[in-house]
Amino acid sequence: MHDMLSYIWTTVLLVVALSTLRVSSMRPGGLLSEAVRRDQVTRVMLPSGPSQGLEERAAPFRFYKNNTKKYLVESLPEMDFDLGELYSGVVPIDMNNASRGLFFVFQPRVGEPVDEITIWLNGGPGCSSLEGFLQENGKFQWAWGQFSPTINKVEYPVGVGFSIGESRARTEEGIAEEFNDFFFNFQKIFAISKFKIYVTGESYAGRYVPYIASGMLDRNDSNHFNLSGALTYNPTIGEFGWVQTQAVIYPLIEKYNNVLGYNSSFMAKLASIDQTCGYVDYRDTHVDKFPPSQVQPPKYFNSTVDADCDIWHAAYFAAYGANPCFNPYLITLQCPLQGDPLGFPSDLIYSYPNTPVYFDREDVKKAMHAPVDREWSLCNGNPFVEGQGGPQNLGDMSADPIQRVLPRVIEATRRVLVANSDLDFETPTTGTLLAIQNMTWGGLLGFQNKPVKPITITEPDLQYEAIFASSGFDDVDDPQGTMGVQHFERGLMWAE
Ligand SMILES: *[C@@H]1O[C@H](CO)[C@@H](O)[C@H](O)[C@H]1NC(C)=O
Ligand SMILES: *[C@@H]1O[C@H](CO)[C@@H](O)[C@H](O)[C@H]1NC(C)=O
Ligand SMILES: *[C@@H]1O[C@H](CO)[C@@H](O)[C@H](O)[C@H]1NC(C)=O
Ligand SMILES: *[C@@H]1O[C@H](CO)[C@@H](O)[C@H](O)[C@H]1NC(C)=O
Ligand SMILES: *[C@@H]1O[C@H](CO)[C@@H](O)[C@H](O)[C@H]1NC(C)=O
Ligand SMILES: *[C@@H]1O[C@H](CO)[C@@H](O)[C@H](O)[C@H]1NC(C)=O
Ligand SMILES: *[C@@H]1O[C@H](CO)[C@@H](O)[C@H](O)[C@H]1NC(C)=O
Repeated sequence: MHDMLSYIWTTVLLVVALSTLRVSSMRPGGLLSEAVRRDQVTRVMLPSGPSQGLEERAAPFRFYKNNTKKYLVESLPEMDFDLGELYSGVVPIDMNNASRGLFFVFQPRVGEPVDEITIWLNGGPGCSSLEGFLQENGKFQWAWGQFSPTINKVEYPVGVGFSIGESRARTEEGIAEEFNDFFFNFQKIFAISKFKIYVTGESYAGRYVPYIASGMLDRNDSNHFNLSGALTYNPTIGEFGWVQTQAVIYPLIEKYNNVLGYNSSFMAKLASIDQTCGYVDYRDTHVDKFPPSQVQPPKYFNSTVDADCDIWHAAYFAAYGANPCFNPYLITLQCPLQGDPLGFPSDLIYSYPNTPVYFDREDVKKAMHAPVDREWSLCNGNPFVEGQGGPQNLGDMSADPIQRVLPRVIEATRRVLVANSDLDFETPTTGTLLAIQNMTWGGLLGFQNKPVKPITITEPDLQYEAIFASSGFDDVDDPQGTMGVQHFERGLMWAE
């Protein structure tokens, strides 16, 4: 058990601090802004291409075979370094009918091979997991310390990113089934068997991850679905229309108004909504109770009837007044607005001039074996075909994961991590913890004890060490120190 935790723990150290940078969007900005399309700018491609012969270069690759050849990524525009072993492309959900499939990126571990696969999913719903690949935990961003041995990312569900075919997303159970069909086919193609499988993701993937993991358990196939753990960052695992957002946003605003910068009359207005709409009472009853004194009542935010109680959106839109570079995924960011090769530096769509959206470039699509006729944007809009209905009115008809699938995955693996970063306006930490406190696993409701154990990072500063040294500042470069709080009960680890 200790070993297993330390493995997951290593994972968190490298990623949690930065995951706030870009948790995929799940509300207006993100979903609305996809309507904005920018002109394509043509760009001169750097000469690229391996100097060595392909077969020679690929000879040491573990998964390189006749039938995986077509997925090998030989080079990528703008990346003038050896990509190592990297595959991407579309694998059908049904091998007998290629009309619907999921797009994946597969980066085997650098160094000693391990028989493990970590699946990473971004959220939205409707946002592409290529964000994670390029900006959060891919080989390129994290070349100095891969957070997990093997990374495998998928554009999920159908309708997102480069995945092909019409979307049929209605329930999490249904799309998890499609994912697992795809994943089985993927393993067949890459001759993968008897690997340990970890399912991970962030934001709305807080719903995908437990449903996929639970679907894996249903398969009774330990050769292909040996689920060994799961991890989610800033996840929408509970009721997020009311509890994980509206009910908990005011304390976050109050704590960070030194950077958010709302004026005093607006703060007074927010405080009054917080009080009259029952959010204060709810927090008084349920926050910071270990063990929880009671099960939480059902909650639902009806955006028509409850419009006057929409403190979250009131504050969200006003935040741009005080700070035009407001980033709801990392509230401390100030101007200038940072250009983004994926065109999505916050909920605003922006990249530096002459920087087309990387994965929408034809040369990049070709290099990655992606459908060239498919327009790529970071978030494609809600992939759930009904568009409304379900517990959060997004057309996703499945129950909140805390109700059944997440407890099941924790009990089966005893190795699940839920982590939340504090500077996220979209999914505040208090709300995620409230969701956990309304979940029964291992026979008990919620955590029994208050999370207090510090996360102290004593590793040297690997990221900036060289810069400090070359600037003559090596003696002032400290390890990161205390970064947060960790807690473990009955197979579930929490980190904030
Ligand atoms: C791979 O393809 C080559 C050329 O088509 C063939 O000679 C070789 O036998 C194939 N290898 C396997 C393992 O199928
Ligand atoms: C493949 O699936 C599509 C729907 O995705 C369907 O329209 C088509 O008829 C199927 N083709 C075959 C050969 O079954
Ligand atoms: C599944 O993983 C467990 C450890 O998590 C391991 O003990 C077991 O042998 C694996 N099963 C298979 C079929 O690989
Ligand atoms: C998996 O095993 C359980 C319990 O043995 C059984 O109820 C279920 O039908 C099995 N599922 C499949 C897909 O074989
Ligand atoms: C809390 O859990 C109970 C029992 O599963 C459920 O009925 C209720 O809707 C949940 N409340 C919230 C806010 O998640
Ligand atoms: C919200 O409330 C209105 C008015 O009562 C009702 O017509 C509508 O169906 C509700 N929406 C949902 C999704 O429950
Ligand atoms: C305070 O902020 C609100 C929301 O941004 C704005 O509508 C209002 O005009 C501001 N009041 C003053 C006095 O600046």
